[in-house]
Amino acid sequence: MADVVKAIIPAGGLGTRFLPFTKAVPKELLPILNKPAIQYIVEEGLASDISQFFVITSKGKSAIEDHFDPNVELELLLKERNQLDLISSLERIARAAQFCYIRQSEPLGLGHAIWSARHTIGKEYFGVFLPDDIIISKVPAMLQLLKIARQEKASVIAVQEVPIEQVSSYGVISIKKQLTPNLFQVSHVVEKPDQKESPSNLAIVGRYVLSNKIFASLEQIEADKKGELQLTDAISHMMHNNEKVFAFKIQGMRYDVGNPIGWIKAIIGCALQDPQCAPHITKLLEDRDLIESFTLNRSKIVEHSL
Ligand code: G1P
Repeated sequence: MADVVKAIIPAGGLGTRFLPFTKAVPKELLPILNKPAIQYIVEEGLASDISQFFVITSKGKSAIEDHFDPNVELELLLKERNQLDLISSLERIARAAQFCYIRQSEPLGLGHAIWSARHTIGKEYFGVFLPDDIIISKVPAMLQLLKIARQEKASVIAVQEVPIEQVSSYGVISIKKQLTPNLFQVSHVVEKPDQKESPSNLAIVGRYVLSNKIFASLEQIEADKKGELQLTDAISHMMHNNEKVFAFKIQGMRYDVGNPIGWIKAIIGCALQDPQCAPHITKLLEDRDLIESFTLNRSKIVEHSL
């Protein structure tokens, strides 16, 4: 299999779970400590030897482009102040990565977003990163998938076990064959099944290595009830046309940063990995009195008449 150097990042979604914040600011720029969520995705890509990122955007998402574009005035100012290290992570990205932005004119689903980038991918396999899923791991999640893709010469999707009550929030795989404790050959995939009808509790988490055959399948599947093209349906279609697909239980901690609670968990989880933040956050989590010292306790408020 030729090297996989391209990845699609669908970032056109409205971010309704984060309204009103996402009215004017893309959810992909939500900060996790001092970096926006999408920067974690790009860094994972670079650490997996992916260097070309095709970001699918929509109206109101241009701040993503500004984030990765060089800003000469800021760089000069920081240089004068001897503070260039504040943006060194972005400089590293600018040196190693190429970005191309593709506008998705209508919100017609994840499948349509991927299809919008069809002209950028040739005959090769490519990666897909869903930016709501931040995965922190020793070996980058995408690199884990690429290793399997090279070994099996086939498409691979990342999965994790979820409690059965939660399967209706995910695409779920049906297992054809278990090859190792973490590797499965897939027979089909179902998008957001009812708990009772779910083929397993192995949920797709937002990393894929896909064959370019996915584009032909995306052209042949029907839209769902909401009028959206589902990537999951195209993956099933591709499998029924004799393309093998594997699922790998990804090793790492995954956060769904597309909703406020998942985002808070990501911040706490990442802060606990950060040498400067960790002691403060550990103390905070262990010390009930400390939390109470900055929490408004309505029962203790005495109303004084002026
Ligand atoms: C998307 C995919 C779904 C996958 C999930 C992972 O759903 O359609 O198959 O399991 O991402 O986060 P969404 O969360 O965008 O509804």
